[in-house]
Amino acid sequence: MTLWSGRFNESMDETLWNLSESFSFDHVLYAYDIEGSKAHAAGLAKVGLLSAEEFATISSGLERVAAEFAANTFVRSEVDEDIHMAIERRLTELIGEPGRKLHTSRSRNDQVATTLRLFTRDAVGQVSQAVLGLVDALIAKGAEYPQAVLPGYTHLQRAQPVLLTHHLNAHALGLLRDVDRIIDARHRMNVSPLGAGALAGTSLPIDPNFTASQMDFESAFINSIDAVSDRDFVAESLFALAMCGVHLSRIGEELVLWTTQEFDFASLSDAFTTGSSMLPHKKNSDVAELARGKSGRLVGNLTSVLVMLKGLPFSYNRDLQEDKEPLFDSVRTVLLVVHSLTGAIATMTMNTMRMESSASDELLVAIDIAEALVADGVAFRDAHALAGQLVGRAVAEGRALSVVVGEDPEFAKFLFLFDDRGALNRRTSQGSSGPESADHQAKQIAELIDSARRRLAKGAKP
Ligand code: ARG
Repeated sequence: MTLWSGRFNESMDETLWNLSESFSFDHVLYAYDIEGSKAHAAGLAKVGLLSAEEFATISSGLERVAAEFAANTFVRSEVDEDIHMAIERRLTELIGEPGRKLHTSRSRNDQVATTLRLFTRDAVGQVSQAVLGLVDALIAKGAEYPQAVLPGYTHLQRAQPVLLTHHLNAHALGLLRDVDRIIDARHRMNVSPLGAGALAGTSLPIDPNFTASQMDFESAFINSIDAVSDRDFVAESLFALAMCGVHLSRIGEELVLWTTQEFDFASLSDAFTTGSSMLPHKKNSDVAELARGKSGRLVGNLTSVLVMLKGLPFSYNRDLQEDKEPLFDSVRTVLLVVHSLTGAIATMTMNTMRMESSASDELLVAIDIAEALVADGVAFRDAHALAGQLVGRAVAEGRALSVVVGEDPEFAKFLFLFDDRGALNRRTSQGSSGPESADHQAKQIAELIDSARRRLAKGAKP
Protein backbone atom coordinates (compact mmCIF):
# COMPACT_ATOMS: atom_id res chain seq x y z
CA MET A 1 0.00 0.00 0.00
CA THR A 2 1.45 3.32 -1.00
CA LEU A 3 0.82 6.39 1.14
CA TRP A 4 -1.71 7.63 -1.40
CA SER A 5 -3.65 4.42 -2.04
CA GLY A 6 -6.83 5.35 -0.05
CA ARG A 7 -9.14 5.54 -3.05
CA PHE A 8 -7.77 2.54 -4.96
CA ASN A 9 -9.06 -1.04 -4.89
CA GLU A 10 -6.44 -2.63 -7.08
CA SER A 11 -2.71 -2.41 -6.59
CA MET A 12 -0.56 -0.87 -9.28
CA ASP A 13 0.52 -2.98 -12.21
CA GLU A 14 4.19 -3.85 -12.07
CA THR A 15 4.91 -2.34 -15.47
CA LEU A 16 3.51 1.01 -14.35
CA TRP A 17 5.40 0.76 -11.10
CA ASN A 18 8.65 0.29 -12.98
CA LEU A 19 7.84 3.24 -15.18
CA SER A 20 6.72 5.46 -12.37
CA GLU A 21 9.05 4.82 -9.46
CA SER A 22 11.88 7.29 -9.08
CA PHE A 23 13.49 6.12 -5.85
CA SER A 24 16.10 4.27 -7.88
CA PHE A 25 17.57 7.62 -8.93
CA ASP A 26 16.11 10.29 -6.64
CA HIS A 27 17.39 8.66 -3.43
CA VAL A 28 20.48 10.85 -3.83
CA LEU A 29 18.25 13.76 -2.78
CA TYR A 30 17.69 12.38 0.72
CA ALA A 31 19.64 15.04 2.62
CA TYR A 32 17.90 17.88 0.76
CA ASP A 33 14.46 16.34 1.21
CA ILE A 34 15.10 15.96 4.92
CA GLU A 35 16.30 19.55 5.13
CA GLY A 36 13.06 20.64 3.44
CA SER A 37 10.98 18.46 5.74
CA LYS A 38 12.64 19.90 8.81
CA ALA A 39 11.91 23.42 7.62
CA HIS A 40 8.34 22.38 6.87
CA ALA A 41 7.91 20.85 10.32
CA ALA A 42 9.36 23.98 11.93
CA GLY A 43 6.83 26.02 9.94
CA LEU A 44 3.94 23.79 11.07
CA ALA A 45 5.11 24.12 14.68
CA LYS A 46 5.38 27.88 14.38
CA VAL A 47 1.71 28.22 13.43
CA GLY A 48 0.50 25.61 15.91
CA LEU A 49 -0.19 22.78 13.45
CA LEU A 50 2.37 20.70 15.34
CA SER A 51 3.02 20.86 19.08
CA ALA A 52 6.55 21.63 20.24
CA GLU A 53 6.84 18.02 21.29
CA GLU A 54 5.63 16.66 17.97
CA PHE A 55 8.06 18.94 16.17
CA ALA A 56 10.97 17.71 18.33
CA THR A 57 9.99 14.09 17.70
CA ILE A 58 9.72 14.66 13.95
CA SER A 59 13.07 16.48 13.81
CA SER A 60 14.94 13.78 15.65
CA GLY A 61 13.13 11.11 13.61
CA LEU A 62 14.24 12.82 10.41
CA GLU A 63 17.80 12.87 11.74
CA ARG A 64 17.57 9.14 12.29
CA VAL A 65 16.35 8.57 8.74
CA ALA A 66 19.20 10.75 7.44
CA ALA A 67 21.68 8.73 9.48
CA GLU A 68 20.36 5.52 7.93
CA PHE A 69 20.88 6.90 4.44
CA ALA A 70 24.34 8.19 5.35
CA ALA A 71 25.33 4.80 6.76
CA ASN A 72 23.81 3.01 3.78
CA THR A 73 21.53 1.04 6.06
CA PHE A 74 18.25 2.51 4.84
CA VAL A 75 16.05 -0.32 3.60
CA ARG A 76 13.73 0.57 0.78
CA SER A 77 10.24 -0.79 1.16
CA GLU A 78 8.35 -2.04 -1.89
CA VAL A 79 5.88 0.83 -1.45
CA ASP A 80 8.56 3.54 -1.61
CA GLU A 81 7.73 5.19 -4.91
CA ASP A 82 10.18 8.03 -4.54
CA ILE A 83 12.53 9.54 -1.99
CA HIS A 84 9.80 11.71 -0.49
CA MET A 85 7.48 8.77 0.21
CA ALA A 86 10.35 6.65 1.42
CA ILE A 87 11.42 9.18 4.04
CA GLU A 88 7.89 9.82 5.28
CA ARG A 89 7.17 6.09 5.44
CA ARG A 90 10.31 5.37 7.42
CA LEU A 91 9.82 8.37 9.69
CA THR A 92 6.36 7.18 10.63
CA GLU A 93 7.67 3.67 11.25
CA LEU A 94 10.28 5.12 13.59
CA ILE A 95 8.25 7.71 15.50
CA GLY A 96 4.64 6.66 15.00
CA GLU A 97 1.72 9.09 15.08
CA PRO A 98 3.54 12.48 14.74
CA GLY A 99 5.02 11.25 11.47
CA ARG A 100 1.48 11.15 10.05
CA LYS A 101 1.23 14.92 10.52
CA LEU A 102 4.37 15.91 8.62
CA HIS A 103 2.69 16.15 5.24
CA THR A 104 0.06 18.63 6.55
CA SER A 105 -0.50 21.44 4.01
CA ARG A 106 2.22 20.01 1.79
CA SER A 107 2.10 18.15 -1.51
CA ARG A 108 4.88 16.25 -3.16
CA ASN A 109 4.59 18.90 -5.83
CA ASP A 110 5.90 21.73 -3.66
CA GLN A 111 8.09 19.25 -1.78
CA VAL A 112 9.93 17.96 -4.83
CA ALA A 113 10.37 21.47 -6.20
CA THR A 114 11.88 22.53 -2.85
CA THR A 115 14.11 19.50 -2.57
CA LEU A 116 15.40 19.86 -6.10
CA ARG A 117 16.16 23.56 -5.64
CA LEU A 118 18.12 22.79 -2.49
CA PHE A 119 20.06 20.11 -4.34
CA THR A 120 20.72 22.28 -7.37
CA ARG A 121 21.79 25.31 -5.33
CA ASP A 122 24.35 23.16 -3.59
CA ALA A 123 25.46 21.25 -6.69
CA VAL A 124 26.09 24.32 -8.83
CA GLY A 125 28.09 25.80 -5.95
CA GLN A 126 30.29 22.69 -5.95
CA VAL A 127 30.68 22.84 -9.71
CA SER A 128 31.69 26.51 -9.50
CA GLN A 129 34.34 25.75 -6.87
CA ALA A 130 35.71 22.96 -9.06
CA VAL A 131 35.74 25.16 -12.17
CA LEU A 132 37.61 27.86 -10.25
CA GLY A 133 40.15 25.18 -9.33
CA LEU A 134 40.65 24.49 -13.03
CA VAL A 135 41.03 28.21 -13.70
CA ASP A 136 43.72 28.30 -11.01
CA ALA A 137 45.49 25.38 -12.71
CA LEU A 138 45.45 27.14 -16.09
CA ILE A 139 46.84 30.34 -14.59
CA ALA A 140 49.47 28.45 -12.61
CA LYS A 141 50.56 26.55 -15.73
CA GLY A 142 51.01 29.83 -17.56
CA ALA A 143 52.99 31.24 -14.64
CA GLU A 144 55.40 28.28 -14.91
CA TYR A 145 56.23 29.39 -18.46
CA PRO A 146 55.83 33.18 -18.42
CA GLN A 147 58.00 33.67 -21.54
CA ALA A 148 56.81 30.71 -23.59
CA VAL A 149 55.53 31.52 -27.07
CA LEU A 150 53.47 29.42 -29.43
CA PRO A 151 51.74 30.17 -32.70
CA GLY A 152 48.21 31.45 -32.32
CA TYR A 153 45.96 29.83 -34.93
CA THR A 154 43.00 30.76 -37.03
CA HIS A 155 41.47 27.99 -39.15
CA LEU A 156 44.08 25.85 -37.39
CA GLN A 157 46.70 27.54 -39.58
CA ARG A 158 49.53 29.41 -37.90
CA ALA A 159 48.50 33.05 -37.63
CA GLN A 160 50.49 35.14 -35.15
CA PRO A 161 52.80 34.30 -32.26
CA VAL A 162 51.20 34.52 -28.82
CA LEU A 163 52.38 34.01 -25.27
CA LEU A 164 51.31 30.72 -23.74
CA THR A 165 49.82 32.73 -20.86
CA HIS A 166 47.68 34.61 -23.36
CA HIS A 167 46.32 31.40 -24.80
CA LEU A 168 45.65 29.82 -21.40
CA ASN A 169 44.03 33.04 -20.14
CA ALA A 170 41.54 32.81 -22.99
CA HIS A 171 40.42 29.39 -21.74
CA ALA A 172 40.31 30.72 -18.17
CA LEU A 173 38.04 33.61 -19.20
CA GLY A 174 35.48 31.26 -20.75
CA LEU A 175 35.40 29.22 -17.56
CA LEU A 176 35.07 32.38 -15.46
CA ARG A 177 32.02 33.34 -17.49
CA ASP A 178 30.60 29.88 -16.73
CA VAL A 179 31.04 30.51 -13.02
CA ASP A 180 29.46 33.92 -13.37
CA ARG A 181 26.49 32.40 -15.19
CA ILE A 182 26.12 29.71 -12.54
CA ILE A 183 26.13 32.29 -9.74
CA ASP A 184 23.49 34.33 -11.59
CA ALA A 185 21.38 31.21 -12.02
CA ARG A 186 21.85 30.34 -8.37
CA HIS A 187 20.42 33.71 -7.39
CA ARG A 188 17.30 33.15 -9.52
CA MET A 189 16.74 29.64 -8.18
CA ASN A 190 17.07 30.78 -4.58
CA VAL A 191 13.29 31.09 -4.11
CA SER A 192 11.36 28.65 -1.94
CA PRO A 193 8.33 26.89 -3.48
CA LEU A 194 7.39 25.30 -0.12
CA GLY A 195 3.84 26.16 0.89
CA ALA A 196 2.43 26.10 -2.63
CA GLY A 197 0.81 22.75 -1.86
CA ALA A 198 -0.40 20.71 -4.82
CA LEU A 199 -0.84 23.86 -6.90
CA ALA A 200 -3.16 26.31 -5.18
CA GLY A 201 -1.93 26.74 -1.61
CA THR A 202 -3.89 25.70 1.43
CA SER A 203 -6.59 26.78 3.86
CA LEU A 204 -4.24 26.14 6.76
CA PRO A 205 -2.37 29.10 8.34
CA ILE A 206 1.15 28.34 7.08
CA ASP A 207 4.00 30.85 6.70
CA PRO A 208 6.04 30.25 3.50
CA ASN A 209 8.37 33.16 4.27
CA PHE A 210 9.33 31.52 7.52
CA THR A 211 10.07 28.15 5.93
CA ALA A 212 11.96 29.92 3.14
CA SER A 213 14.24 31.60 5.66
CA GLN A 214 14.72 28.30 7.51
CA MET A 215 16.29 26.94 4.30
CA ASP A 216 18.26 30.13 3.56
CA PHE A 217 16.23 30.89 0.48
CA GLU A 218 16.31 34.57 -0.44
CA SER A 219 12.51 34.69 -0.72
CA ALA A 220 9.36 32.59 -1.00
CA PHE A 221 7.26 31.99 -4.13
CA ILE A 222 4.84 34.67 -5.31
CA ASN A 223 2.42 32.34 -7.10
CA SER A 224 1.66 28.76 -6.12
CA ILE A 225 1.13 27.56 -9.70
CA ASP A 226 4.47 28.97 -10.77
CA ALA A 227 6.08 27.48 -7.66
CA VAL A 228 5.16 23.89 -8.53
CA SER A 229 5.46 24.18 -12.33
CA ASP A 230 8.70 26.10 -12.72
CA ARG A 231 11.80 24.16 -13.68
CA ASP A 232 13.64 27.10 -15.20
CA PHE A 233 16.31 26.58 -12.59
CA VAL A 234 16.96 23.07 -13.91
CA ALA A 235 17.09 24.20 -17.53
CA GLU A 236 19.24 27.20 -16.69
CA SER A 237 21.66 25.12 -14.67
CA LEU A 238 21.82 22.57 -17.48
CA PHE A 239 22.60 25.33 -19.92
CA ALA A 240 25.37 26.69 -17.71
CA LEU A 241 26.74 23.15 -17.35
CA ALA A 242 26.48 22.50 -21.10
CA MET A 243 28.23 25.76 -21.91
CA CYS A 244 30.92 24.87 -19.42
CA GLY A 245 31.12 21.43 -21.04
CA VAL A 246 31.64 23.06 -24.40
CA HIS A 247 34.50 25.11 -22.94
CA LEU A 248 35.97 21.96 -21.40
CA SER A 249 35.71 20.18 -24.73
CA ARG A 250 37.59 22.98 -26.47
CA ILE A 251 40.35 22.70 -23.89
CA GLY A 252 40.25 18.95 -24.43
CA GLU A 253 40.56 19.29 -28.19
CA GLU A 254 43.61 21.51 -27.87
CA LEU A 255 45.25 19.13 -25.43
CA VAL A 256 44.63 16.32 -27.91
CA LEU A 257 46.34 18.37 -30.62
CA TRP A 258 49.16 19.64 -28.43
CA THR A 259 50.08 16.16 -27.26
CA THR A 260 50.28 14.63 -30.74
CA GLN A 261 53.73 13.90 -32.16
CA GLU A 262 52.80 16.30 -34.95
CA PHE A 263 52.33 19.30 -32.64
CA ASP A 264 54.38 18.09 -29.69
CA PHE A 265 53.71 21.24 -27.66
CA ALA A 266 52.83 19.43 -24.44
CA SER A 267 53.01 16.12 -22.72
CA LEU A 268 50.67 14.88 -20.05
CA SER A 269 51.98 13.11 -16.96
CA ASP A 270 51.77 9.33 -16.77
CA ALA A 271 49.09 9.64 -14.10
CA PHE A 272 46.82 11.42 -16.58
CA THR A 273 47.40 9.27 -19.65
CA THR A 274 46.40 5.78 -20.65
CA GLY A 275 48.11 2.98 -22.51
CA SER A 276 46.99 0.79 -25.36
CA SER A 277 45.89 -2.82 -24.91
CA MET A 278 47.84 -3.80 -28.03
CA LEU A 279 50.48 -1.21 -28.85
CA PRO A 280 53.09 -1.13 -26.11
CA HIS A 281 54.47 2.28 -27.00
CA LYS A 282 51.19 4.22 -26.81
CA LYS A 283 50.57 7.01 -24.33
CA ASN A 284 47.11 8.35 -25.05
CA SER A 285 45.44 11.61 -23.99
CA ASP A 286 42.12 9.97 -23.12
CA VAL A 287 41.48 12.57 -20.45
CA ALA A 288 41.35 15.26 -23.11
CA GLU A 289 39.28 13.12 -25.47
CA LEU A 290 36.77 12.40 -22.72
CA ALA A 291 36.58 16.11 -21.88
CA ARG A 292 35.70 16.59 -25.53
CA GLY A 293 33.38 13.58 -25.77
CA LYS A 294 31.43 14.14 -22.56
CA SER A 295 30.22 17.52 -23.75
CA GLY A 296 27.75 15.71 -26.02
CA ARG A 297 25.70 14.36 -23.16
CA LEU A 298 25.71 17.74 -21.43
CA VAL A 299 24.11 19.32 -24.46
CA GLY A 300 21.76 16.32 -24.71
CA ASN A 301 20.66 16.70 -21.08
CA LEU A 302 19.79 20.36 -21.64
CA THR A 303 17.87 19.45 -24.79
CA SER A 304 15.95 16.66 -23.10
CA VAL A 305 14.74 18.92 -20.27
CA LEU A 306 13.79 21.78 -22.58
CA VAL A 307 11.84 19.42 -24.80
CA MET A 308 10.16 17.83 -21.76
CA LEU A 309 9.09 21.29 -20.48
CA LYS A 310 7.89 22.56 -23.82
CA GLY A 311 4.11 22.54 -24.06
CA LEU A 312 3.47 21.30 -20.51
CA PRO A 313 0.19 22.66 -19.19
CA PHE A 314 0.12 24.16 -15.70
CA SER A 315 0.67 23.05 -13.06
CA TYR A 316 2.51 19.91 -11.94
CA ASN A 317 2.64 17.03 -14.43
CA ARG A 318 4.46 13.79 -13.94
CA ASP A 319 6.61 14.62 -16.95
CA LEU A 320 8.49 16.87 -14.54
CA GLN A 321 9.97 13.83 -12.84
CA GLU A 322 12.16 13.61 -15.95
CA ASP A 323 14.06 16.69 -14.77
CA LYS A 324 16.24 14.76 -12.36
CA GLU A 325 18.35 12.23 -14.23
CA PRO A 326 19.65 14.75 -16.77
CA LEU A 327 20.48 17.18 -13.97
CA PHE A 328 22.26 14.58 -11.85
CA ASP A 329 24.14 13.35 -14.89
CA SER A 330 25.30 16.81 -15.93
CA VAL A 331 26.48 17.73 -12.45
CA ARG A 332 28.34 14.46 -12.09
CA THR A 333 29.83 14.64 -15.57
CA VAL A 334 31.09 18.20 -15.26
CA LEU A 335 32.65 17.47 -11.87
CA LEU A 336 34.39 14.36 -13.25
CA VAL A 337 35.76 16.20 -16.26
CA VAL A 338 36.79 19.33 -14.36
CA HIS A 339 38.62 17.39 -11.67
CA SER A 340 40.58 15.26 -14.11
CA LEU A 341 41.37 18.13 -16.45
CA THR A 342 42.62 20.12 -13.47
CA GLY A 343 45.03 17.34 -12.57
CA ALA A 344 46.07 16.80 -16.18
CA ILE A 345 46.85 20.48 -16.68
CA ALA A 346 48.58 20.89 -13.33
CA THR A 347 50.96 18.03 -14.17
CA MET A 348 51.43 18.76 -17.89
CA THR A 349 54.85 19.70 -19.25
CA MET A 350 55.17 22.20 -22.07
CA ASN A 351 57.72 21.68 -24.82
CA THR A 352 58.72 25.33 -25.05
CA MET A 353 61.44 24.73 -27.68
CA ARG A 354 58.99 23.14 -30.01
CA MET A 355 56.35 25.82 -29.43
CA GLU A 356 58.91 28.54 -30.00
CA SER A 357 60.19 27.01 -33.21
CA SER A 358 56.66 26.74 -34.60
CA ALA A 359 56.01 30.33 -33.58
CA SER A 360 59.17 31.51 -35.35
CA ASP A 361 57.69 30.61 -38.72
CA GLU A 362 58.76 33.69 -40.72
CA LEU A 363 55.47 33.93 -42.56
CA LEU A 364 53.92 35.07 -39.28
CA VAL A 365 55.80 38.36 -39.77
CA ALA A 366 53.80 39.21 -42.92
CA ILE A 367 51.26 41.22 -40.96
CA ASP A 368 54.08 43.23 -39.32
CA ILE A 369 55.39 44.18 -42.77
CA ALA A 370 51.90 45.34 -43.71
CA GLU A 371 51.53 47.30 -40.47
CA ALA A 372 54.99 48.87 -40.90
CA LEU A 373 53.90 50.04 -44.36
CA VAL A 374 50.75 51.51 -42.81
CA ALA A 375 52.96 53.40 -40.35
CA ASP A 376 54.73 54.79 -43.44
CA GLY A 377 51.40 56.07 -44.76
CA VAL A 378 50.40 53.25 -47.12
CA ALA A 379 46.68 52.35 -47.10
CA PHE A 380 46.16 49.02 -45.35
CA ARG A 381 44.64 47.29 -48.38
CA ASP A 382 47.71 48.21 -50.48
CA ALA A 383 50.04 47.25 -47.64
CA HIS A 384 48.27 43.89 -47.30
CA ALA A 385 48.70 43.26 -51.05
CA LEU A 386 52.39 44.20 -51.00
CA ALA A 387 53.14 41.95 -48.03
CA GLY A 388 51.08 39.20 -49.67
CA GLN A 389 53.16 39.47 -52.83
CA LEU A 390 56.37 39.07 -50.78
CA VAL A 391 54.92 35.95 -49.14
CA GLY A 392 53.81 34.63 -52.53
CA ARG A 393 57.30 35.13 -53.90
CA ALA A 394 58.95 33.43 -50.92
CA VAL A 395 56.61 30.43 -51.12
CA ALA A 396 56.93 30.11 -54.91
CA GLU A 397 60.71 30.35 -54.82
CA GLY A 398 60.99 28.14 -51.75
CA ARG A 399 63.02 30.79 -49.95
CA ALA A 400 62.74 32.32 -46.50
CA LEU A 401 60.57 35.43 -46.32
CA SER A 402 63.38 37.36 -44.61
CA VAL A 403 65.69 36.58 -47.56
CA VAL A 404 63.14 37.84 -50.07
CA VAL A 405 62.52 40.97 -47.98
CA GLY A 406 66.26 41.56 -47.48
CA GLU A 407 66.93 41.39 -51.22
CA ASP A 408 64.20 43.82 -52.14
CA PRO A 409 65.51 47.41 -52.08
CA GLU A 410 62.05 48.71 -51.21
CA PHE A 411 61.53 46.39 -48.26
CA ALA A 412 65.01 45.68 -46.94
CA LYS A 413 64.49 48.34 -44.25
CA PHE A 414 61.90 46.03 -42.70
CA LEU A 415 64.38 43.22 -42.03
CA PHE A 416 64.48 44.17 -38.36
CA LEU A 417 60.87 42.92 -38.11
CA PHE A 418 62.26 39.38 -38.21
CA ASP A 419 64.18 39.95 -34.98
CA ASP A 420 63.69 37.35 -32.34
CA ARG A 421 60.27 37.84 -30.73
CA GLY A 422 59.87 41.17 -32.49
CA ALA A 423 56.43 40.24 -33.79
CA LEU A 424 55.29 39.31 -30.31
CA ASN A 425 56.74 42.39 -28.63
CA ARG A 426 55.05 44.64 -31.14
CA ARG A 427 51.60 43.49 -30.04
CA THR A 428 50.94 46.36 -27.69
CA SER A 429 47.24 47.05 -28.13
CA GLN A 430 44.84 46.52 -25.26
CA GLY A 431 44.21 42.86 -24.49
CA SER A 432 46.68 41.76 -27.15
CA SER A 433 49.09 38.84 -27.03
CA GLY A 434 52.22 40.86 -26.26
CA PRO A 435 54.16 40.99 -22.98
CA GLU A 436 52.95 44.51 -22.15
CA SER A 437 49.36 43.43 -22.04
CA ALA A 438 50.20 40.22 -20.15
CA ASP A 439 50.67 41.87 -16.74
CA HIS A 440 47.51 43.87 -17.03
CA GLN A 441 45.54 40.80 -18.09
CA ALA A 442 46.94 38.79 -15.21
CA LYS A 443 45.68 41.43 -12.78
CA GLN A 444 42.27 41.62 -14.42
CA ILE A 445 41.87 37.85 -14.32
CA ALA A 446 43.02 37.65 -10.70
CA GLU A 447 40.32 40.21 -9.84
CA LEU A 448 37.68 38.17 -11.66
CA ILE A 449 38.73 35.04 -9.78
CA ASP A 450 38.57 36.88 -6.44
CA SER A 451 35.21 38.35 -7.15
CA ALA A 452 33.81 34.97 -8.28
CA ARG A 453 35.05 33.40 -5.04
CA ARG A 454 33.51 36.23 -2.99
CA ARG A 455 30.15 35.98 -4.77
CA LEU A 456 30.17 32.23 -4.42
CA ALA A 457 30.84 32.37 -0.68
CA LYS A 458 28.22 35.04 -0.16
CA GLY A 459 25.29 33.10 -1.57
CA ALA A 460 26.40 29.78 -0.16
CA LYS A 461 24.76 28.05 2.70
CA PRO A 462 27.00 27.87 5.76
N1 ARG B 1 8.72 11.76 -7.84
C1 ARG B 1 7.93 12.90 -8.24
C2 ARG B 1 8.75 13.86 -9.11
O1 ARG B 1 9.91 13.66 -9.19
C3 ARG B 1 7.46 13.62 -7.04
C4 ARG B 1 6.21 14.37 -7.24
C5 ARG B 1 5.07 13.45 -7.46
N2 ARG B 1 3.85 14.16 -7.47
C6 ARG B 1 2.75 13.62 -7.95
N3 ARG B 1 1.72 14.35 -7.92
N4 ARG B 1 2.74 12.39 -8.42
O2 ARG B 1 8.27 14.77 -9.70
